[in-house]
Amino acid sequence: MTRILGLSGSLRRGSFNTGLLLAARDLAPEGVQVELYEGLRDIPPYDEDVRAAGFPPVVEDLRRRILEADALLFATPEYNRSVPGVLKNAIDWVSRPPHQPFDGKVAAIVGASPGALGTALAHYHLRQVLSVVGVYVLPAAETLVGGAGAKFDAGGLLTDEATRNVLRDRMTRLVDLATRLAPRV
Ligand SMILES: Cc1cc2nc3c(=O)[nH]c(=O)nc-3n(C[C@H](O)[C@H](O)[C@H](O)COP(=O)(O)O)c2cc1C
Repeated sequence: MTRILGLSGSLRRGSFNTGLLLAARDLAPEGVQVELYEGLRDIPPYDEDVRAAGFPPVVEDLRRRILEADALLFATPEYNRSVPGVLKNAIDWVSRPPHQPFDGKVAAIVGASPGALGTALAHYHLRQVLSVVGVYVLPAAETLVGGAGAKFDAGGLLTDEATRNVLRDRMTRLVDLATRLAPRV
């Protein structure tokens, strides 16, 4: 079983980005399990003095879950052409030594927005941040879901068949990358 940890950068009820992860969980190929991380709201603002005294338990929990995952799936909204602060804050916590768990992980980035560009700029900011902490981000395979308002139903279910197919494809590619970079013996 390949375990993908899904991290949404939105705290919003009815979030399109969390909706992408829920769809990915439903569409996961045989042998793949997508688990959603739901603790983002509880991660405190980064404080180096606090870290020096020891990671808060919520951060330890996230670090452990990232370490144990075979791959990561980030669903990021775009806020002012970048990554939401809550997501960047969580990445900052996780990235601190010792034994930072991002190093050598594989990840894919998806993002949904009501706007036409579908999180393109946030996507590239997140790619940059993840690269510097040692994550292999799936090359090419941009997953930019624009016009999201028309692609989800009122209950937050992803109904757009083309986007559902793209998610299936991204998970297949992500598992392939994870397998190539970390072959099991
Ligand atoms: C502070 C803030 C800044 C935003 N900036 C952008 C932006 O730069 N580009 C964009 O496409 N949408 C922007 N939006 C709109 C979001 O794409 C929209 O709220 C979206 O639904 C957020 O994702 P979610 O549905 O997963 O919560 C912004 C929203 C907020 C709250």
